[in-house]
Amino acid sequence: MVDDKPWFVLNDIVKQYPGVLAVNHASLSLLPGEVHGLIGGNGAGKSTLIKIMAGVVRPDRGQILMNGERLDLHSGNDAYRYGLSFIHQELNLVPYLSGAENIFLGRPYPKTRFGTIDWKALNRRAERIMLELGMRVRVDVPVSRLTRGEQAMISLGRAFVGDARIIVMDEPTASLTDEEIRNLFRVIRELKARQRTVLYVSHRLDEIFEICDRVTIMRDGSVVGVYPIGALNQSEMVRLMIGRSLGESIPPAQSRAGRVFFRVEGLAGGLVQGVRFDLREGEILGLAGLVGAGRSEVLHLIYGSIKPQRGQMWLDDKPFSPRSPADAIRAGVALVPEERHQQGLVLSRPVLQNITLPALDRFAWRSLFVNRAAEQSAGQKVAQQVHLKAASLDQKVNQLSGGNQQKVVFARWLQTRLRMLLLDEPTRGVDVGARFEIYRIIRELAAAGIGIVLVSSDLQELLGLADRLIVLREGRQLADLPAAGLSQEALLHYCYGEVPCE
Ligand SMILES: Nc1ncnc2c1ncn2[C@@H]1O[C@H](COP(=O)(O)OP(=O)(O)OP(=O)(O)O)[C@@H](O)[C@H]1O
Ligand SMILES: [Mg+2]
Repeated sequence: MVDDKPWFVLNDIVKQYPGVLAVNHASLSLLPGEVHGLIGGNGAGKSTLIKIMAGVVRPDRGQILMNGERLDLHSGNDAYRYGLSFIHQELNLVPYLSGAENIFLGRPYPKTRFGTIDWKALNRRAERIMLELGMRVRVDVPVSRLTRGEQAMISLGRAFVGDARIIVMDEPTASLTDEEIRNLFRVIRELKARQRTVLYVSHRLDEIFEICDRVTIMRDGSVVGVYPIGALNQSEMVRLMIGRSLGESIPPAQSRAGRVFFRVEGLAGGLVQGVRFDLREGEILGLAGLVGAGRSEVLHLIYGSIKPQRGQMWLDDKPFSPRSPADAIRAGVALVPEERHQQGLVLSRPVLQNITLPALDRFAWRSLFVNRAAEQSAGQKVAQQVHLKAASLDQKVNQLSGGNQQKVVFARWLQTRLRMLLLDEPTRGVDVGARFEIYRIIRELAAAGIGIVLVSSDLQELLGLADRLIVLREGRQLADLPAAGLSQEALLHYCYGEVPCE
């Protein structure tokens, strides 16, 4: 087969959902041995197109062709038989099964000579796959006990079972560390050398430039162009994706921080062993550190979702010791969690209910009657503030695109009376346009006097937004420094526990 003849084609695909034309006459063609990027804003239709490839969603029209032959995909199993393998954005793991069981789900498990399942052999096989991927993760415990990053690795492992010819990755790096991303890219290059095809979805354009050969750009359900990488620069790409250019910078702080209203002393629990800081009204405090440094744990200790073993907190000079998130929310302390699927959203409920959930008592009269009109109009307002793309506020959250789900989590806190907002990777999975909207919202909240504690693995984001930084390493606090003038390199040196070289 000649290399420039597509072996897989999606032709003129249409998918209409009630109120949303998710995919609008889109076509995609993949060559053997290429890494093909698929990019577009939140809700552009990328995941829908991928679910159609996987046979999980039926298109209203259009054809799927492999080597010129028409495929009729009715289920994920059909796609697997044709050599297609997927890492979906939602990972789709079975939480109570082990990593090894998830990796080989739907494939024959190894048997002992008595005909029972050979668990040891199963685990060994799974371990070997993870080892080849260069990823360290336990495969013998239920995946519900793993972090989101570890779950992503299991999901990657599953995609590499069998000898798939086309591997589709929908935002695979969303919760991987730098080192894991390096490993993933190494594996992708190997696949390419073996003439396999990778379809790669990401909002991180630097990744697209690094790993892809060609890119298909979508906007509002349509394909707006297919380009060899290098034919476009980053800002041309952004313009095609979101229909406008971006002022690339993070908005500057609008006001000086006010008085200290929150203090933490000797806080310990989970991984964290002794953290202390003051937070001023309107201040943005960044928590820096490597994955596993205990950054998220600090947020959860403050939020009452992890019980502190030691330490004290004061809010407005009064001791603050929330026994649950409900306590924290009552005191005006909110969290946008990393695990939005588990902790952030009620997926099967409409957008509006998810937005108004924590603030419901404001709309209730004697807690019995919810004032629908007021709820609706407040919901509309915040939905617009975060540029939410949904058919209506009655749409269920699990029908929104990944990035728009993140905006719902954010939206709910915009109309609650807040003192302090804890943000854990707030822009993960969010497109470039919306990312800057979120930066603007964070700045506005700070300008309104809300104290913000920010965890982000994106150093540019962290340094661009934070006034001050706490550096954590293996649960210990190494430094408390002003962010101004600090370079990414210097910060990384701190994170690795080295003296920064200026
Ligand atoms: N099951 C569904 N029911 C109704 N609408 C849906 C459903 N699934 C997706 N949509 C809508 O289709 C559109 C495309 O969504 P899709 O998930 O394909 O976007 P995406 O490009 O993957 O976005 P993101 O970058 O945020 O993941 C969105 O407007 C979404 O709300
Ligand atoms: Mg998606």
